[in-house]
Parts: sequence; C-alpha cells; structure tokens
Amino acid sequence: MRIGLLGVGRLGASHAETLRSLPDVRELRIYDADIARAREIAAKVGATAVDSVDAAYHGADAVVLVTPTDTHATLINKAIAAGLPTFCEKPIAMGLPETKDVVAQVKRANGRLQIGFQRRFDAGYQAAKRELREGRLGTVYSFYMTSRDRLPPPDAYIKTSGGQFKDQVIHDFDITRWLFDDEVAEVSADGSTLGHPTYEAMQDVATSAVLLKLRGGAIGAIVAGRHNEAGYDIRVEINGAKDTIAIGLDPRTPIRSVETDALPLGGPAYPSFFVRFGDAYHAELAHFLRFARGQADNPCTAADALEALRIAEAAGRSWREHRPVKLSEIA
Ligand SMILES: NC(=O)c1ccc[n+]([C@@H]2O[C@H](COP(=O)([O-])OP(=O)(O)OC[C@H]3O[C@@H](n4cnc5c(N)ncnc54)[C@H](O)[C@@H]3O)[C@@H](O)[C@H]2O)c1
Repeated sequence: MRIGLLGVGRLGASHAETLRSLPDVRELRIYDADIARAREIAAKVGATAVDSVDAAYHGADAVVLVTPTDTHATLINKAIAAGLPTFCEKPIAMGLPETKDVVAQVKRANGRLQIGFQRRFDAGYQAAKRELREGRLGTVYSFYMTSRDRLPPPDAYIKTSGGQFKDQVIHDFDITRWLFDDEVAEVSADGSTLGHPTYEAMQDVATSAVLLKLRGGAIGAIVAGRHNEAGYDIRVEINGAKDTIAIGLDPRTPIRSVETDALPLGGPAYPSFFVRFGDAYHAELAHFLRFARGQADNPCTAADALEALRIAEAAGRSWREHRPVKLSEIA
C-alpha cells in the first residue's frame, strides 16, 4: 500500500518507523510543515519526503495524520473528500462543533476514519475487557485510573493541545466507555497548576482528578499528572463483586512499596508512551491498514471520538464552574 504520513514530530516519527516495519506498506510519503524535519525522518526510516499536503495525498491508498490537534479537522475533511481511508490521532478537534462537522462529513461521504486511541489495542486492556464481557468480576462497582506522564511536554505543545482533559485524560474517558460498554452520565473534576505556574496563563492544569458516574451506576476516579519522574504510569484497577483486577501493574510499574516486600515492584520504569504502548501503536496501525483495505471493522470511530470529547468538555466545565456536570448538558 502507498501511505501518506502527515506530521513527524514526537509521535509521528515513531509512527513513521512503525509504518515502515509493516510489510503491507510499499511506499511511505512524509509531509511535515517543517520540511527539514520531514526530510530527516524520511531519510531515517527509508521513506520519501514531499513538500505539500497534496503531494502526500496524491496517489495514496490511505493517509495517517499525526499533526497538531488544531489541524486535524481540515486535513481529515480533505482526505475523506478525496475518498482516502484516514487514520487520525486523537482528538479530532478541540471543539465540539468542528468534531461534529467531521462526524457528519464522514457519514455523508461514507468515509473511513479510524481515530488513534491506542489503549484499545493494549494487551492488558484487551484481557480486562474479555474478563468483563465474560462476567468474571460480577457487578463492577468502581474503578480507579492513573494517568501520569514522566516529563511534561513542551509548553508550545500544551498551548495547542486543548488542555489536560482533552489532550491527556481523554484517553481514560475513551477507555472507560470501551472497557465497560457503558456511557458516562455525570462528571466532577478539579485541577491544579502546582509546580507548573505557566499553565495558569494557558488556562490549563498539570494535575487533575475526575470523578465519573456511569449510567449503569459504577463510579470511577481518574488521577492525571504531567510530571512523574518515577516513570510514565498508566494503570487501572477494576473492582467487581467477585474479583478485583489491575491493568498495567507489572515489575516496570513505577511505584515502590516502602512497607512490605509483598509486591515485586519498582523495576525499570516506562520512560515514555512510546515504550509503554509500543506494541499497541503497532497493532493499531496494522489494524488500520486492514480497515483501509475493507478487511476489518473500524475499531475506533469518529463518533467514539466525539463521545470522549463530550466527557472532556464536561470535565473542563466542572473544573471551571466548581460543580458536577451531567453529560446531557453537553449538546
Ligand atoms: N495516542 C497517543 O498516545 C498520543 C501521544 C502524543 C500525541 N498524540 C496526538 O498526536 C498529535 C501530534 O502530537 P505530537 O506530540 O507528535 O506533536 P508534535 O508537535 O511533536 O508534532 C507535530 C508535527 O506536525 C507538524 N505540523 C504542524 N502543522 C502541520 C501541518 N499542517 N501539516 C503537516 N505537518 C504539520 C509539526 O511541524 C510537527 O513536526 C496530537 O494531536 C496529539 O494529541 C497522541
């Protein structure tokens, strides 16, 4: 297949290597607004750098978008209008109106758009979902999610990211819907700029806590942070009537038990999302190629991305207005 890849910054450069490693990819054309960067990554992975979006799209069988969030909607609409199966990193856009426009455009054009919520492809999350589907945990009462970056991204990234709820915690919102096959009914959120005063001017937070109430009655608590030098730390604990399970707890989990030796934790931590989710990104892009060829279902639709964004929007509103927000308030 001939693939056009747009944006080879932090994540796009890693996706370039992954795409190049997939046997189905016969040709990879890379465009980045920073042409020198496109050339550098293309030379590194054995791809061709091109100097415009059109050149990346022309003659491609599918496109992969890893550009900043505020460019996604325009690039998706252009690709879908050209009939190109499209993979786009999360989120589709910062705002609900642009996201809804994309959902409508994909539907009108009968287009193929897969969104990059890679946790859906992680072996731990998939095993937990199987156990939940089989009913092994009985009634799920509650869950706890940890979402911590090792080092904060550059301020320039934070500025265009849409904020912690839409940029970071959105993964937890998406995976909540996917894991529990349920929808969020109500959100309460708070946040802090402790240690990161520059976030104040960007109307963002560096640490946040979100309480979710699902329609079925389960309660979830998510704690997210931008700075955790112990390591990149993504975990879930699910408490059901019959059993409690954890996702992401292994010898690399960056926590240490200081009271007991019972848990053999505290080995080398995950340095970044590339390492923690390397296999998931690989499986996700391999799946996209099958989806683009019409051989697999869409594992994460534009409508899924819209729902995750609605929860992030509710969290932002709850934090700003200091009150619980019902999802039904988010049009
Ligand atoms: N799924 C995940 O785990 C995950 C992790 C990190 C980032 N992301 C998402 O991936 C996207 C990119 O994030 P990043 O951290 O790689 O950002 P980044 O800023 O490191 O890289 C973005 C790249 O896109 C280029 N660019 C900017 N505008 C462009 C345009 N119009 N056309 C082509 N190239 C353009 C920039 O020059 C840069 O090289 C964001 O939407 C982010 O939310 C997802």
